[in-house]
Amino acid sequence: MREINRKIHKILREIIGKREKAIKNGETNNDDLLGLLLESNMRQSNGNAKLGLTTEDVIEECKLFYFAGMETTSVLLTWTLILLSMHPEWQERARQEVLTHFGRSRPDFDSLSRLKIVTMILYEVLRLYPPVVLLSRRTYKEMELGGIKYPAGVSLLLPIVFIHHDPNIWGKDASNFNPERFVDGISNAAKHQAAFLPFGGGPRICIGQNFALLEAKMALCTILQRFSFELSPSYTHAPYTVITLHPQHGAQIRLKKL
Ligand code: HEM
Repeated sequence: MREINRKIHKILREIIGKREKAIKNGETNNDDLLGLLLESNMRQSNGNAKLGLTTEDVIEECKLFYFAGMETTSVLLTWTLILLSMHPEWQERARQEVLTHFGRSRPDFDSLSRLKIVTMILYEVLRLYPPVVLLSRRTYKEMELGGIKYPAGVSLLLPIVFIHHDPNIWGKDASNFNPERFVDGISNAAKHQAAFLPFGGGPRICIGQNFALLEAKMALCTILQRFSFELSPSYTHAPYTVITLHPQHGAQIRLKKL
């Protein structure tokens, strides 16, 4: 793990070094996240230490954004393709919606937010196969939660995946893929408003949730416009957690060009 950490640091240091050089030479318009972080970092070197980030901070932020942002959206898309292969009727409904809105042209960002069926499908995938299966917290001082007193240093786990599968909250068909439950939005899909929490909740809620849904919609629309897809006979259904929730033996999917 130390070796991997060292390699990641080296890669990030190089990326940061290149960008810093480009900024100094005026070769970049610097309008992305790394640019903003480095701007803050440079403010620090100009003596405003309290406002700035150190290079180590920038490295940690890059790591967080990469790990929090890449894998999660990628497994969401993977599970979506698997479930739409298992439920061709929903695949067809989604494709019809996409073709009605965009035809064969590239979806534009504003219209992506108006896709209803696609959004319902992504919510249902996030409910059944949440990329982040649990949230963990540690008490830093003695505190009371739900009438129980916990001392400092206790690990508390919130099992998102169990909450998302609980028939008392979602009804008897809690285990079934039924995007229809989201037809009137998230707040009407379950008995408890806060029961749907693929992006966490409260002050540490996912900062990238809108971006993630936009990315997923863009990718899914592009695939639906061009291909129909089905599971290969070699696919074995085995959800498995390695930090995020993966199909353990991969997602063997056959694409057919439309
Ligand atoms: C389907 C995709 C995604 C899922 C399911 C997801 C899920 C989550 C969850 C559950 C948390 C809360 C963790 C906690 O409370 O302990 C979180 C936090 C976070 N996510 Fe995401 N995420 C996704 C995509 C993204 C993307 C695309 C980005 C960045 C572009 C991102 C950046 C972050 C960051 C920076 C945090 C930490 C926020 C904080 O602690 O204040 N996530 N995410």
